[in-house]
Amino acid sequence: MKGKILYGNKIFIKMSGYEESELLGAAHSILRHPEMPKAVFKLLWDRIQNKEEIFAYVKNLCKDGSYYWVLANVTVTLDAQGNPRDYHSVRRKPSAKAMEVIPGLYQKLLDEERSAQEWTAP
Ligand SMILES: Cc1cc2nc3c(=O)[nH]c(=O)nc-3n(C[C@H](O)[C@H](O)[C@H](O)COP(=O)(O)O)c2cc1C
Repeated sequence: MKGKILYGNKIFIKMSGYEESELLGAAHSILRHPEMPKAVFKLLWDRIQNKEEIFAYVKNLCKDGSYYWVLANVTVTLDAQGNPRDYHSVRRKPSAKAMEVIPGLYQKLLDEERSAQEWTAP
């Protein structure tokens, strides 16, 4: 519920470059790439905490410093009482067409976030 990794399939573990034992129990932000706009994660958490799913393009950082893009579908698993039990992310390879658009769009968001930060800095 707070973004700790409980499970990862073999492909996820292989792509990340970490050992399974390094990932289990770690915060999901272990994969956070510095070029990911904050706004994407804000939207992700806003939606799943509201029991809504999200499809989001995510650039992930591997252990060796390389990266990979995914189209993540994050959903909420509810218990029998309808309360959120955990979150589940299924990742797919993004289409070539999406990869023509998304990196440039995220760069614009990142630039906006960085200039807003400078603006508000004391
Ligand atoms: C199910 C689930 C999967 C997530 N997958 C990723 C991921 O692949 N990469 C990532 O950087 N953050 C992922 N996050 C978001 C992280 O928890 C975190 O919000 C994000 O990395 C930003 O980190 P920060 O808030 O420390 O800057 C995921 C969160 C959930 C609930």
